[in-house]
Amino acid sequence: MNFYDEISPLYHLIYPNWTRSVELQGRQLDNIIQQNWPGSTRLLDVSCGIGTQALGLAELGYSISASDLSEKEIERAKKEAERRKLAIQFSVADMLNAHAQHGAGFDVLISCDNSVPHLLTDDDLLSAFRQFFDCLKPGGGCLITVRDYEKEERGKNLVKHYGARIEDGKRYVLFQVWDFTGVHYDLAFFIVEEELTTGIIHTHVMRSRYYAVSATRLCELMLNAGFEDVQRLDGQYFQPVIVGTKPSEDLLGI
Ligand SMILES: C[S@@+](CC[C@H](N)C(=O)[O-])C[C@H]1O[C@@H](n2cnc3c(N)ncnc32)[C@H](O)[C@@H]1O
Repeated sequence: MNFYDEISPLYHLIYPNWTRSVELQGRQLDNIIQQNWPGSTRLLDVSCGIGTQALGLAELGYSISASDLSEKEIERAKKEAERRKLAIQFSVADMLNAHAQHGAGFDVLISCDNSVPHLLTDDDLLSAFRQFFDCLKPGGGCLITVRDYEKEERGKNLVKHYGARIEDGKRYVLFQVWDFTGVHYDLAFFIVEEELTTGIIHTHVMRSRYYAVSATRLCELMLNAGFEDVQRLDGQYFQPVIVGTKPSEDLLGI
């Protein structure tokens, strides 16, 4: 079972209040989308996870197709959408096959909360960005959000705290441990689950590897994939946002 399959039932605990974050992120992304590509309605999320961004944007009226590599996260995202009576087209897919899976013509494609650094080489990132390009209509927008790796310390035994939550009679304490090797790091995500009445403890640990790629390098790779007006936006979302636009038909020579 992969990292995200294992974490899917607990994923919301990463946020102090996931439901509120779904609404907030939906509004923030809607603002960025409408500022950059006004009138957009048809949206593709290629790493939707349990739906943190797709659900909030669907609430705002976007027509959404959403996929992820993790089957279990897609199962949960479907349940979250049903609970909110939202019609989202969900499927399991690798973002490296986004075009074969979803076809072309989307107004906007998103991949949020540090999903693309799961691709471990510049070649894979470039292949993914080319796929994203092919999924969009001319003039369509690509929006990705990532950790600001230029500001992250490198080393071993680096601990990142996510806090503690109480839910259904249990306390969950969440933290990650990072070990760098060159530009990559191995991450162990620990979730310590404590039953408050009995004190019984169960520890979950999920492991994954990331490429600590800089936003600057991601912008270069998006330009290489054919996007124009590529820029980094700060202060509009909880992470840096990188946007790029597929050239319009006359520039593409269509
Ligand atoms: C940090 S999570 C963010 C998920 C979602 N955007 C959210 O904020 O809830 C990163 C996601 O990237 C997905 N992912 C990793 N590699 C992928 C790939 N090659 N294709 C599609 N999804 C991928 C994982 O399964 C996971 O759901």
